[in-house]
Parts: sequence; C-alpha cells; structure tokens
Amino acid sequence: MNTNNKIATVFGGTGFVGRQVVRELAQRGFTVKVATRVPESAYFLKPHGVVGQIVPFTCNYKDENSIKEAVAGSTYVVNCIGILFERRRGKRFWFAHSDLPEMIAKACKKENVERFVHISALGIEGSKSKYAKTKLAGESVVSKAFKPATILRPSVIFGEDDNFFNKFAELARFSPVLPLIGGGRTKFQPVYVADVADAVMAALMLPARGEKNPQGKIFELGGPEIVTFKEIYQRLFEYTGRTRKLISLPWWLAKIDAVFLELLPNPLLTRDQVELLRTDCVVSKKAQGFDDLDVQPQAMGMILPRYLGHYRAGGHFSAAKHA
Ligand SMILES: NC(=O)c1ccc[n+]([C@@H]2O[C@H](COP(=O)([O-])OP(=O)(O)OC[C@H]3O[C@@H](n4cnc5c(N)ncnc54)[C@H](OP(=O)(O)O)[C@@H]3O)[C@@H](O)[C@H]2O)c1
Repeated sequence: MNTNNKIATVFGGTGFVGRQVVRELAQRGFTVKVATRVPESAYFLKPHGVVGQIVPFTCNYKDENSIKEAVAGSTYVVNCIGILFERRRGKRFWFAHSDLPEMIAKACKKENVERFVHISALGIEGSKSKYAKTKLAGESVVSKAFKPATILRPSVIFGEDDNFFNKFAELARFSPVLPLIGGGRTKFQPVYVADVADAVMAALMLPARGEKNPQGKIFELGGPEIVTFKEIYQRLFEYTGRTRKLISLPWWLAKIDAVFLELLPNPLLTRDQVELLRTDCVVSKKAQGFDDLDVQPQAMGMILPRYLGHYRAGGHFSAAKHA
C-alpha cells in the first residue's frame, strides 16, 4: 500500500496502547496526527518517525469542531481513549467511553474518513460495572454514527508499560500478602500490546472486500492462554522470584477495601473494578478474533520475563542466579 501523503489520526496516542499504534502507523509511512489534550505529552513519540511525520495536535475533547479539525484530512482514525476510574458520582466514564467516541465517529463520517477503529474492551457484556456499561454504550453509539467502524475488544493487555502486571509486581515488592479478589477465580486471556497494535493495523488495512473485510465488525482479542487471577499471581511469582501469601478476599470485603483505596489519586482498586472482576474477560466461542485479522498473538511467557525481571530481589541480573 502506498501511504505517502496519507494521514492517520490517533486519539489517545499518548497512552499505553496508542503509542504502539502511532509507531506502527509511522513505520508504514503515514503522517500521524496525535490528537491529545496536552501536546507536550506527545513529544516523546516524535523519534518514532522522521522529522515532521508525527504531529502532536491539540484537541479539546469537549468541542466538536476541535475533534473535526483533528480528523480532517485523515484517511484513517483510531480511538484509543479510555479511563479506568472516575471520581465519585462523576460523569467521566460516560464522557470518555461514550460521548467522546460518538463525537469522533460523527466527525469521521462528516470528514469522509475511510476507516475508523475504536478500542473497546472484553468482558463488558453483562457486567454491572460503570466502566463496562459505558464501554458497551460506546460501541453502540460508534456503530450507529459510523457504520463501517471496526471495534476491537481486548482482554487485559500486557507490555512493558502496562498498568496491570507492573502494578501487582510492584505491590508484591512491598506487601507480604496479596489479595485474591472474589477468590481469584476470574478468568483472563492476557494479550500483548504489540499484538493489539497489529490488530489495529489489520483492521485499517485488510481489503474492503470479501470475508476478511473488517469493516462494521467486532473482534475479540485474547492471547493464547486463559488464566485465572490466582494463576496470574503465580506467573508473577515465577518471573519475579518473589513468593507472597495469597489471601482470599470475598467480593463484599473487597468493596469495603475499595472505598478507602478510592481516596488515593491513582487508586489501586475501586468498587467499580471489583464489580468488573465478577465477569470473566475471555473471548467468546463465536466471536471473530486474531485469526480473522491474520495476527498470531504471543504468549505471556515470551514477553513477561523481559520486563518483570527487574522486580526480582537483587535486580534484573539476579535472574541468572535463579535460572
Ligand atoms: N490497558 C488495558 O489492559 C486495556 C484492556 C482492555 C481495553 N483497554 C482499552 O484500550 C484503550 C487504550 O487503553 P490504554 O491502557 O492505552 O489507556 P491509557 O494509557 O490509560 O489512556 C489512553 C489515553 O486516554 C486519554 N485520557 C486519559 N484520561 C482521560 C480523560 N479523563 N478524559 C479523556 N481522555 C483521557 C489520554 O490521552 P491524552 O492525555 O493524550 O489526551 C491517554 O493517552 C482504552 O479504550 C481502554 O479502555 C485497555
């Protein structure tokens, strides 16, 4: 594909997933507009392209015109915006997961964008959590506003800067016990961040004809292994060489704990997250997924030891002693 002079806009390009998407687009020769609230936060992306190829673009997410400007002239648009928690009785979930994606989808239609990929999440159907409900509502408004939109639903995502494995590895560093919320039986299908970015590329570039046409479809993205929360801790212990006592925390007690943890600026756990954990986060049987996008997802064992090694007692190079 000749991508010379083609522009792609990435919303949330400064984030964990978005930065991988920006890098992949730049490698394919696109000029990448990184729509962001704070342009300085996108400067670190510039070395992923040649001079002038990656352009931080100040966007006021509350202003439709600003969103339209961010999208104008782009062939492709990707939305990687998402939040994990909101302050009490806030409306930020609704705004970030539904109102904003709807505005982006409408702008895509008005500006004749060829393809729009929206990142949603797995395990949101049937969940009572506000995160899940707003993500599900976001899918619906996006599909209504821009029918050919492709929706990707990743399970929990791992990668060097992730906020999941790193968080628990950090916790294990200081705490002698770790909580098994709801008994630790919730299932996950962790997926590598680079594979999610590859899925985005496939959704943007697979032909618009035939069975493989990704437009107007939902893809569920799970890695090759299904693991419970408890098994995730066991993997962490294996890769960090630190073993901790696991204590089962009933759902009700986890919620009480969360009331206090929610007071922290970047809470370790919220009541909404406890609710989210009640639903398994695995690919459903009939769903379309990585296979349909011609992407081969990588296993945790190939990636996690590379970045969890530095949580070992004695640092990364003590790994050799344990090998
Ligand atoms: N990480 C996971 O394990 C995981 C799992 C399943 C689904 N997802 C979904 O994948 C997408 C990307 O996730 P991520 O982990 O890359 O997210 P992230 O790094 O936490 O944030 C992505 C972007 O969202 C924007 N943002 C943050 N707070 C916001 C707010 N209050 N209002 C509006 N925008 C805000 C920021 O963009 P600017 O600051 O540049 O404006 C940020 O770069 C999200 O839709 C997420 O729900 C993630």
